[in-house]
Amino acid sequence: MTSTDIIEKNALHVLPALPYAENALDPVISANTLSFHYGKHHKGYVDTLNKLVAGTELAGLSLEQLINETAGQADKVAIFNNAAQTWNHTFYWRSLRPKGGGEPPAEVMDLIKTAFGNLDACKKELATAATTQFGSGWAWLVLEGDKLKVVKTANAETPLTKGAKPLLTIDVWEHAYYLDFQNRRADYVNAVLDKLINWDFAADNLGEIRSGQAPKGKS
Ligand code: FE2
Repeated sequence: MTSTDIIEKNALHVLPALPYAENALDPVISANTLSFHYGKHHKGYVDTLNKLVAGTELAGLSLEQLINETAGQADKVAIFNNAAQTWNHTFYWRSLRPKGGGEPPAEVMDLIKTAFGNLDACKKELATAATTQFGSGWAWLVLEGDKLKVVKTANAETPLTKGAKPLLTIDVWEHAYYLDFQNRRADYVNAVLDKLINWDFAADNLGEIRSGQAPKGKS
């Protein structure tokens, strides 16, 4: 589905299937965390979004259109939050994989060397963004123009509304790590970067961006 697709009037947004089993990210992210995070939090955003847009002029819009239409509008905050959180979580699941980490594919590594010098510096910048995000939010590796950049966003905010193209994200809401790491957000983030981050997904997104398509976070 591309960002310009229109969902049929009255069609519901759906919770996409997890790309792996709920215990596949254990021991960094336990099945218990994934069960609540995906089955309760992510599902809750999708269900709430469907209720909020039902019968309104926004009911026929795709997720990306909803995000862009409602961003920054005080009377549409709830719709924006639930639409963006739906998108962000789908993108997050795909940013992780069992036996992740390691070295990115060459096309991503080339951009990392240009922007950060080396992979460790890139990971360090991602970890700093993730650990210094005050309260709930997200750390992102994005393409801005033709250059990689690390950004952080608060709550449901997404780089999509700021002209940047996401390649990877890390959820730093407490619900993402508290059952496994309690208050040790830095340990969660570093374990994700070393053991779970899905550089192939970053390369897929880079390829799609370069061929003119949107990143793969949509439902
Ligand atoms: Fe989350």
